[in-house]
Amino acid sequence: MAIQNVFIIGATGNIGSELVRQILEKDSPQLGEHKNPTRIVGVANSKGYLFNPGGITMLHDIPESQLNQDNFKTYLKDLLEPEILRKENGLSDLLTETNKAGMDGELIFVDTTDGNEELFKFHRQVITNSNDNIVTANKNPLALYDPESFKELTQFRERYGMRSTVMAGAHTVNLLFDFYDISEHVVRIEGCFSGSLGYICSELEKDKPETFSEIVKKAHQLKYTEPNPLDDLSGLDVARKLTIIARCLNKPINLKDDIELKGFIDTDKYKNKSKEDFLLAIQDENDEVAKKFSDAKKANRTLRYIASLEVEGETSKLKVGLTEVASDSVLGSLKGTANKISIETKVFTKGKEYIIQSPGAGIEITATGIRRDLLSMLKDRKSGTYPL
Ligand SMILES: NC(=O)c1ccc[n+]([C@@H]2O[C@H](COP(=O)([O-])OP(=O)(O)OC[C@H]3O[C@@H](n4cnc5c(N)ncnc54)[C@H](OP(=O)(O)O)[C@@H]3O)[C@@H](O)[C@H]2O)c1
Repeated sequence: MAIQNVFIIGATGNIGSELVRQILEKDSPQLGEHKNPTRIVGVANSKGYLFNPGGITMLHDIPESQLNQDNFKTYLKDLLEPEILRKENGLSDLLTETNKAGMDGELIFVDTTDGNEELFKFHRQVITNSNDNIVTANKNPLALYDPESFKELTQFRERYGMRSTVMAGAHTVNLLFDFYDISEHVVRIEGCFSGSLGYICSELEKDKPETFSEIVKKAHQLKYTEPNPLDDLSGLDVARKLTIIARCLNKPINLKDDIELKGFIDTDKYKNKSKEDFLLAIQDENDEVAKKFSDAKKANRTLRYIASLEVEGETSKLKVGLTEVASDSVLGSLKGTANKISIETKVFTKGKEYIIQSPGAGIEITATGIRRDLLSMLKDRKSGTYPL
């Protein structure tokens, strides 16, 4: 039996708790029905971590009846937080501890946080100082630091799973790496990569739309947005995804310097507000946003938040912003949270582009994408018969 040992960092968050739930429901060794089960040996959040090389028993003992309750995240938080030990040095001692326990090369760390520097350092430490693997839904370590660091993190393709960072679960990142690794040159990419902004556009183009601020609030309640919705509306989230896409193609792109970025709204004046105050304050934008959408509609057009990359010789032109398109065009006809990417290469030429459409992420799809990355890392993957 090939068991995968996973350590989930961010286990008490939206994505992390859904990942725990899916693993316990479908992949746990206790179920006895999986040929390649997954054992959770560690969990962490911003307060500290809990590690047991033999598996976190209290998790694997959670009764099945608890797994489908609506408030599983709260249940899990209440269960884990008293056990999570406060660590003064955060994650920096973690790898030493897991290596000391004889687990070097036996672990996959899953990053479901929205952390920056600490997580970036941790990813680097794992890839360069151990034989363990990483799977990440967190885009920051890949997008916010220099292109050389991206190369360092992704140098061993099989040890670094990142399909949930862009169009989670839709293979986009893996496809781009494949194109690069077989010298299939990409010349143009265009797409809508944000489920939350797609949802907001779709709602705003309705005949009698709710106000922009109400729609954003709803998108946040439905967990379509980033932990901080300002990251969606400033365009930062899409810019992070475009940076990752460009870097998969070995373009030395820096998010701040190389992308022509226009937010969905101008978020500069809201930067220092709390999430709650931000969600209230953006009602000031309602009239202007409504006018943009109704003006476009009068011309039988609509607006989409589009990211594009155009390769011109040695240079690349990258843009992110709200763009007017025909309502029946490839991107104008996208509905709700759906994402779409169109990739033009030397073989997939204009008119024959490689197009991927997938539902916008959300917690279930993202957690499923993470589990597929885990599966791809199994050293001894076996087939089996599974009850459907
Ligand atoms: N929502 C989607 O559809 C989607 C799709 C793809 C990717 N993502 C990405 O998934 C990530 C998580 O999103 P989410 O909505 O689950 O966020 P969330 O609910 O805010 O959860 C974040 C989790 O990370 C923990 N954390 C934060 N900083 C940490 C640190 N330095 N060390 C250890 N743990 C830390 C938090 O701990 P505390 O509870 O102690 O603060 C919490 O458990 C984000 O990076 C997001 O961009 C989301």
